Amino acid sequence: MKNVIFVMGVSGCGKSTIGKLLAQDLNMAFFDGDDFHPEANITKMSSGQSLNDDDRQGWLETLNNLAKTQLINTSCVIVCSALKQKYRDILSSDIQNETKWVHLAGSFDQIFERVNSRADHFMPSELLKSQFDILEEPKNAIEIDISLTPEQIIKKIKQELMNTSEFGLFGLGVMGKSLCRNLANNGFKISMFNRHVDGVEEDVAKNFKAQYSELDQAKAFDDIASFVNSLQQPRKIMLMVNAGKTIDYVIEDLLPHLSENDIIIDGGNSNYKKTKERNEYLKTKGIHFIGTGVSGGEEGALKGPSIMPSGDKDAYENVARFLETISAKDKNGLPCCTYVGPEGSGQFIKMVHNGVEYVEMQLLAEVSTILEALGQNPDVISKTLEGWKASASSYLLEITATIFQKKEGDDWLVKKILDKAGNKGTGNWTTIASAELGVPSTLISSALFSRYISFYKEERIELSKNFDKLDPSELDVTTTEILEAYQFARIINHYQGFKLIAEASNKFSWDLNLSEIARIWTNGCIIRSTLMEELVEVFKTTSNILTDSHLITLINHYKPSSKKVVSQCVLNEITIPALGEAVQFFNGITTKYASANIIQAQRDYFGAHTYQRLDDASGKSYHTNWI
Ligand code: 6PG
Repeated sequence: MKNVIFVMGVSGCGKSTIGKLLAQDLNMAFFDGDDFHPEANITKMSSGQSLNDDDRQGWLETLNNLAKTQLINTSCVIVCSALKQKYRDILSSDIQNETKWVHLAGSFDQIFERVNSRADHFMPSELLKSQFDILEEPKNAIEIDISLTPEQIIKKIKQELMNTSEFGLFGLGVMGKSLCRNLANNGFKISMFNRHVDGVEEDVAKNFKAQYSELDQAKAFDDIASFVNSLQQPRKIMLMVNAGKTIDYVIEDLLPHLSENDIIIDGGNSNYKKTKERNEYLKTKGIHFIGTGVSGGEEGALKGPSIMPSGDKDAYENVARFLETISAKDKNGLPCCTYVGPEGSGQFIKMVHNGVEYVEMQLLAEVSTILEALGQNPDVISKTLEGWKASASSYLLEITATIFQKKEGDDWLVKKILDKAGNKGTGNWTTIASAELGVPSTLISSALFSRYISFYKEERIELSKNFDKLDPSELDVTTTEILEAYQFARIINHYQGFKLIAEASNKFSWDLNLSEIARIWTNGCIIRSTLMEELVEVFKTTSNILTDSHLITLINHYKPSSKKVVSQCVLNEITIPALGEAVQFFNGITTKYASANIIQAQRDYFGAHTYQRLDDASGKSYHTNWI
């Protein structure tokens, strides 16, 4: 990569000497900024007057143009005092990514003595003092102590120029750590940061680095400034911290150390609306923001997650090679990572991913309960689920089959787990987003509320005493029928999830590509499945999967089993909210004439809300005096 290296510092710090030596050593062109002053500046300076900012403007622009012209073909070294940040902004305008700063730093006394010991030189102390007064220390320069010998200085600069990381990972929780190892395993030079909390989080980054040989070259920090300074510009910093307020605190902590065009990537399960706000806020600071969904859990993060980045498209181009390299690959070897769309669209689709995940999990929990009611013990349930892989393969099916095999002592572990399901909030957000957008994601809310019901353990125990529960010995279903009911509900689940994405895309003008989204969910993520692979093709021709001829055939084939399983479960008092809702929703969405006419009449009766008529296509509103 071509660079322009600006060597800066107050008069007398040795810029020209070091600049020339450096250019020579690196075999680059050398320019002394002072040689580019316009006539007027030279006249002014030789009459003993100092230059003001207006005088400097044109000169700094000339140097900026010089740098740009050089960069077309080659790298170069330019020396210039560049004492104020605004001067440096002009010098690096449009070439921030290619600009490196070297600051030759020394104390007033040191420089005063050094300059005035030169035979042909004299600098009054006021002049030097004014230089120190003006100097605004650069935040992202390679800082060089001028008491070193020139040889040492050149060596140090060269070392520092080489010795920067390409990518920073902020937050070393389970996911952050796995991503670090993934990046390092892929040969990227990374810096890793974890905060220091006395007695709680101490030397986390350092200890983590020591634990894994692939992290030998990685740099470990618990100091934000050093972490940020260790990164090549524009810096790419991925946050893997708890979603919510923490993200904002971290952003505020980072901001003072960042430079224009640096990129922050939020890889947590953040709310998509917050991502949009953060995007806008950081734009005002000249910082790019990418909100990205990351799915795959600890193992996925380590071996290849599915990554769903969104936000600033240009900034994405700068981080694409990192994210695409560490992501899982689809069956054609393409990365399961693609630029999703603007604003928080990446986090929106991750949220929906999690909603679909909740349903897939709930369906597996329900079918397992039915299988148990048929008398299957966990080992047999596991075998049954294994057998379903041929026609309904998915990651969640696979892990559930494995879960049922796990024993602790003589009993199955799954039987010892308290039946209260936790959640971290994404299913909740999906349900809220569905309600806000007016999209009936009924399976997602059903799966979410099932978790909530499970949480009322004490009340469930209490109420179970008041009502007799049937023994499901009369249950009349086959495992094939259960499999088909499961398949039916999964298609409805995916219909609803993608419907929610499609509606959000329209509402927010995101222009999302459903086929690409399905594609990046075919590997690495929690909801990867053969059905998802099929949807990649389906979405190439339609955004509504219930219009696809193959899926229509499947639904028609599964429907009888679905109805039978659901009704048998109802008769036998087996709780199957998601399987049941799939049938109900399907009936609703395929009903030509719904019962909503009665709702409309009721609304008009008590609230004069009016209604429209089937026999008047104009859409006119009618009100009736019902009594
Ligand atoms: C993933 C998962 C991951 C995580 C969720 C689940 O795609 O890797 O979805 O994001 O498991 O936090 O959240 P709940 O705690 O709400 O089940």
